[in-house]
Amino acid sequence: MSIEAPPHSGAGTRTAAPHVAAFFERRTFSIQYVVSDPGTGECAVIDPVLDYDEKSGSIATHSADEILQYISEKNLTPAWILDTHPHADHLSAMDYLRRKTGARTGIGEKVVGVQKLWKDIYNLPDSFPTDGSQWDRLFADGERFRIGGLDATVLFSPGHTLASITYVVGDAAFVHDTLLMPDYGTARCDFPGGDASQLWHTMQRILALPDDTRLFMGHDYMPGGRAPAWESTVAEQRARNVHLVQAPSEERFVEFRKARDATLPMPKLILHALQVNIAAGRLPEPEGNGRRYLKIPLDALSGVRWD
Ligand SMILES: [Fe+2]
Repeated sequence: MSIEAPPHSGAGTRTAAPHVAAFFERRTFSIQYVVSDPGTGECAVIDPVLDYDEKSGSIATHSADEILQYISEKNLTPAWILDTHPHADHLSAMDYLRRKTGARTGIGEKVVGVQKLWKDIYNLPDSFPTDGSQWDRLFADGERFRIGGLDATVLFSPGHTLASITYVVGDAAFVHDTLLMPDYGTARCDFPGGDASQLWHTMQRILALPDDTRLFMGHDYMPGGRAPAWESTVAEQRARNVHLVQAPSEERFVEFRKARDATLPMPKLILHALQVNIAAGRLPEPEGNGRRYLKIPLDALSGVRWD
């Protein structure tokens, strides 16, 4: 499913408004984006999903192929394949799209901390690099890059994970798991490396962007059975985000977020997904029989030990 948001007219002094196409992936409630420069046709893909069925272990590329089809139909030139953070709810299609398009890959520089944390949990071999060398570019806070004629800036956005970043492209910001739609609230902070107080500060930074900044979410869970939605603005989030209305100070937010997170089960693909996503979407190498395997650590997240 793809729905396009036309650029704002009258974007004030900003140089350019990007074109944004959203692709909603219903199995994991993820929104994938293609952000493009209407002037040059260069584009970036943000947070693409590799389809994975945990019951059969099958991998498919329907979601990523839909993005490729859109890029081809619109005659776009992919310059970047970007992740906002190593995802816990889906496998990243970054490596598939890199191989298909030749575009450069990028993620936040703190991903090396997530690699170290999960290398330990998965007991990966010494040869697994934890220097981020699996990506072409590791973005630091405040770093700038170009998508055609568009200026993109990186905002370090920890809280949901220790490595999360927001891509601000013209008047659009891709915030992924920080703020969610105003009627749903905010992202959880209880994965290894998550921190509710950091998320509070990250949200304040995002909400300090200009009021009419278009915010694009990474997930939507359709509260109350409404249609999927993924775009709001800074002004709308300030006024109506249910978690911020309910817990309008850092202290209250942290207390609220921790209490709520304690009630949430782990996402069903967290152990499947992280081993792929800390390798920039590369699947594990085939074993002697030519087959690839995922590894599931037991009791790594519960702290129980069977010895
Ligand atoms: Fe996430």
